[in-house]
Order: sequence, then C-alpha cells, then structure tokens
Amino acid sequence: MANYSLRINGKQVEVDVDPKTPMLWVLRDHLKLVGTKYGCGIAQCGSCTIHLGDAAVRSCQLPVAVVGNQSITTIEGLSENADHPVQQAWLEHDVPQCGYCQAGQIMSAAALLKNNPNPSDQDIDAAMDGNLCRCGTYVRIKQAIKTAANSESA
Ligand code: FES
Ligand code: FES
Repeated sequence: MANYSLRINGKQVEVDVDPKTPMLWVLRDHLKLVGTKYGCGIAQCGSCTIHLGDAAVRSCQLPVAVVGNQSITTIEGLSENADHPVQQAWLEHDVPQCGYCQAGQIMSAAALLKNNPNPSDQDIDAAMDGNLCRCGTYVRIKQAIKTAANSESA
C-alpha cells in the first residue's frame, strides 16, 4: 500500500492503495464516485472513460501510481450543474437507452470537443470508436456531439 494525493474534480484527495490499483477502483471503491462504470476491464469498451488532464483515458487500465499531479475529471465533475454542452445535447437528443455506457460516452465526447471544437464526421467516428454501446445509441450520440459542437462555437 502507498499513499497518493490526487486532484479529482477540482479537489485534492488522499488514498492509501496498492500502486497497481486501477483508477477505476480508486474512484468507485475508495472515493465512492460510482458514475464511472466497469464494463470489460481491459480497455475495450470505454465505459470507464475519465479525463486525465484534457485527454480521455480508460480508467480500468490506469494505475494510480502513474497519475502523479495530473488532474482527473470524472462524470461527476464534468460540470457543476450537469450543464456542460455535451450533457445538454445528450438531453436534447434523448441519447441514453439503458444508460450504462453513457458516462463514458459523454467523457469521450467532451474530451473530443475540448481538443477539437469543430470535429468532422471522421473525427467524431475516430474519437468515439472505442466506446461501445450494447443498446446501439450511436446515431443519437453522433447527432448530440454535432449539436454540442455547434452550441460551443455559437
Ligand atoms: S471497463 Fe475500461 S474500457 Fe471497458
Ligand atoms: S445505452 Fe445501454 S449500453 Fe449504451
């Protein structure tokens, strides 16, 4: 076990865990931030996506020991009042079905727009390719990302 001081959703928090512990379990089990979901555990489904700095990363494959002083953002910290442009577009397009994959989808979409405010169809496909949705909400996801991109540049 080792002690880590992590910056998560704008707050400094301390955890005492094995250095190899994936951030997914630090978030869910130790910090009770359960919006980040476990799907595959092997970086294949995207349900555990969080932001490390401005990048979308798979928290199931991110050992706590490599985070250092980089800031982490989870779905709980994406916006103060659930009013991030991506979240608003998700509501407008009524994107979720069962909802399980959606936190990861939203975090991937938010990272895409932060780094590329006007993505092409190909940019969206490439950025969202690793986020699986067993309910098949892909068409609405793409529409919502375009709406969020337009609202951000408006
Ligand atoms: S749980 Fe991390 S990518 Fe599937
Ligand atoms: S909304 Fe059900 S898995 Fe994506």
